[in-house]
Amino acid sequence: MSDKFDLTIIGTGPGGYVGAIRAAQLGMKVAVVEKRATHGGTCLNIGCIPSKALLHASELFEEANHTFAKLGIQVEPELNLGDMLKHKDDTVKSNTTGIEFLLKKNKITAFLGLGTIEAPGKVKVTADDGSTQTIETTNIVIATGSDSANLPGIEIDEERVVTSTGALELKEVPKKLLVVGAGVIGLELGSVWSRLGAEVTVVEYLDRILPGMDSEIAKNFQRTLKKQGFKFKLGTKVTGVDKSGDVLKATVEPAAGGDAEEIEADVILVAIGRTPYTQGLGLEAVGVELDERGRVKTDAHYKSNVDGIYAIGDVIVGPMLAHKAEDEGVAIAEILAGQAGHVNYGVIPGVVYTNPEVASVGQTEDDVKEAGIDYKIGKFNFTANGRAKAMLSTDGFVKIIADKNTDRVLGAHIIGKGAGEMIHELAVLMEFGGSAEDLARTCHAHPTMSEAVREAALGCGDGTIHM
Ligand code: FAD
Ligand code: NAI
Repeated sequence: MSDKFDLTIIGTGPGGYVGAIRAAQLGMKVAVVEKRATHGGTCLNIGCIPSKALLHASELFEEANHTFAKLGIQVEPELNLGDMLKHKDDTVKSNTTGIEFLLKKNKITAFLGLGTIEAPGKVKVTADDGSTQTIETTNIVIATGSDSANLPGIEIDEERVVTSTGALELKEVPKKLLVVGAGVIGLELGSVWSRLGAEVTVVEYLDRILPGMDSEIAKNFQRTLKKQGFKFKLGTKVTGVDKSGDVLKATVEPAAGGDAEEIEADVILVAIGRTPYTQGLGLEAVGVELDERGRVKTDAHYKSNVDGIYAIGDVIVGPMLAHKAEDEGVAIAEILAGQAGHVNYGVIPGVVYTNPEVASVGQTEDDVKEAGIDYKIGKFNFTANGRAKAMLSTDGFVKIIADKNTDRVLGAHIIGKGAGEMIHELAVLMEFGGSAEDLARTCHAHPTMSEAVREAALGCGDGTIHM
């Protein structure tokens, strides 16, 4: 058997490892190259998984502090941050070793080291000790992901001025946490430290939080976060940080110009987006083109401008989400196997894992308005849902947007406990081109939070029953 691989994937994040497994299932001889010591990429090591471990633990702490008593449970919770961080680390380890097992199970050869494309069909791997070897391969997929974006003039030390990576590792709860950027990372990790006792102020350049989300949902969510103690400074930018004293001093000014002011903080989390990661890949030498934002330019089949070189995940255009990367991994493997691999970009759910969660799929009301679509809306508040009342989780609502003429569901947005699970029945409905009536006529178990989804669908027709 030749040593040549059919496919070599650089990066074993959700895009890379899932693509490798699918390709192996389809009979290809597959190699992966990873520069980290463990597989799973940003998501498993320093992203989705550790953040959700801390979000879960801190949510229970918060409930023990504020909700248990209302349910007749008397406790005096005490934080052991070391143990909470250990739970996070253990969760990461069990997930990353799981990927190692899956790669072995699927007979995928894993190389640890920096992957550099020497030429189409040739990937050089440089291990940590400096030793190198070259992999011969028919196709190469770049799945190198993304990295935190920097704020010019503000130096990250990952202890006091941190990205998400440092914010997952803080040794003590900061008294005051300043979050720069009211996006997903800022609000999720801001929630973790707020629940553990930090005073959280969020500075956001735009005049709203969560750009891209339905603006009614974002407004409602901002109110909820304010009730939880978050302070917001919208339409504001951070222009500098003075690190000379024990307390950090951030200079902020209105985005539109105006007087500067100072905000004191013990820790500053910079969460202003992520940038595609292509350093060390040698793309310039092989002539792989990047777009204006540094992403690898691909066609609809993930092929770059160079034959035999493809790219998927955070390093190409589209939402920087693990499940988007995974689906592209599956699609590229199927395309390379001669099948019709495809991702439906119109139906990629997005979830903010706060409490309540915010979940969204398809078009927002802002989108349909802008597109001039004749639409209707069905809504249902969790205050009118029996299960939500029983769980003291009545914050939020379901909003379904349907085409006024055809009744086809165009988008759905939910704020509520467990929204990230509930959104999937809407994703499946949309994949099948379903209507609000299809959903409204589907029997839903009682008492469940999901009944609110059905009620919102009823709201697109003759009206809700319980509100
Ligand atoms: P990555 O996961 O970034 O993996 C790329 C891999 O390539 C890395 O392991 C890197 O070491 C490796 N690599 C890079 N260059 C080379 C090279 N030259 N040679 C060898 N290896 C290389 N998304 C969600 O959907 N849900 C969430 O809840 C969520 N939470 C997040 C929380 C945080 C704090 C962060 C930072 C991100 C979160 N994301 C979440 C986003 C998610 O992590 C990314 O969308 C996802 O990891 C992208 O997958 P990927 O495979 O494209 O790249
Ligand atoms: P983001 O793009 O979600 O939000 C960044 C925010 O920072 C925006 O609101 C932006 O307007 C603001 N901003 C930009 N420059 C600024 C400046 N100079 N001053 C003040 N505000 C500024 O990016 P974030 O939160 O860093 O997350 C990165 C990516 O990771 C996202 O694309 C997201 O998809 C992914 N992610 C997904 C999660 C999930 O699915 N639950 C969780 C965490 C991250």
